Amino acid sequence: MAKPPDLTPLRLAEDRLELLDQRKLPGAEEWVVCRDADEVARAIEEMVVRGAPAIGIAAAQGLYLGCRRLGARGRDAAARDRIRSRLAGTRPTARNLFWALERMEGAARDHGHLPSGEFLRRLQAEAEAIRQEDVTANRALAQHGEQLVAAGARILTHCNAGALATGGYGTALGVVRRAHEVGKGPVVLACETRPLLQGARLTAWELARDGIPVTLITDGMAAHFMGRQQVDVVLVGADRIAANGDTANKVGTYGLAMLAAAHGIPFLVAAPTSTLDAALADGAGVVIEHRHPAEVLSVAGIRVAPAGVPAANPAFDVTPHRYISAIITERGVHRPPFGRSLAGE
Ligand code: MRU
Repeated sequence: MAKPPDLTPLRLAEDRLELLDQRKLPGAEEWVVCRDADEVARAIEEMVVRGAPAIGIAAAQGLYLGCRRLGARGRDAAARDRIRSRLAGTRPTARNLFWALERMEGAARDHGHLPSGEFLRRLQAEAEAIRQEDVTANRALAQHGEQLVAAGARILTHCNAGALATGGYGTALGVVRRAHEVGKGPVVLACETRPLLQGARLTAWELARDGIPVTLITDGMAAHFMGRQQVDVVLVGADRIAANGDTANKVGTYGLAMLAAAHGIPFLVAAPTSTLDAALADGAGVVIEHRHPAEVLSVAGIRVAPAGVPAANPAFDVTPHRYISAIITERGVHRPPFGRSLAGE
């Protein structure tokens, strides 16, 4: 069977951002068009686009579109600040969101003296560069990570850290993809990932699309499969990595890391360096996004809990670095103690 075209969830153009609507997958492949910063911000909040690197790319293009809407006033830092804070207020845990906005602001400052048309072209080029560099970083980290995957490895993953969560190729699933491409025949156990089912809807869809064997399990089944020696490695992405290696990722990741440690199974994190937060000493300072309780009280829009029962909905948890065997970035494989290695020393 012919290989399907490379998957990307974002298309950047001069006057818009097109997003593969991830709320509709796997049932329908529909694209949402955003023409200004506010539409991009709403798409991020509503999870049309999700996954830390993809959120960062969308926000970068959102900032460009916001400046484009302002015309010559886009060169005014105060006007830009309003757009930036609207975009930055969408999903607080995703480090790449803030990283991308900081980078766009740097480009805006560097080019603020140029005529308006040229200024906008530079911002558009910066957003596109962020997208392209993300794919390049994913391919590089996948090559490093693949070395840690044995032939026929049974890999457990959580949420979706794939092409859909990035500019393309993926982080954790980039490693899986690379292992598949070099003929190692990896097989994936995908946790469904309540409440929004990114594992069931997105990871299962994108792996099946590429012909990579995947079996779906509910989140509560992970210990069962680890206890029966049916998992060789746990491999996840990250939303924010503190300087000491503490890692925020989709809620449930922390529990998987402890289970892996209890069973002597390697626990690997794969992320580009744009997810690193060097200013954050450890995970205690990570801002955890809390989403609407309705996401927990319902499954796929159908209410499953009795009326009047409250629900909590932290979207992420923080895995302490002591449970992480390695962090894989485009620079290579970082081993504990992570501090110096992540700092690039
Ligand atoms: O709430 P989401 O779907 O944006 O959460 C996504 C994750 O937790 C991913 O694992 C993380 O962003 C890394 S994506 C390469």
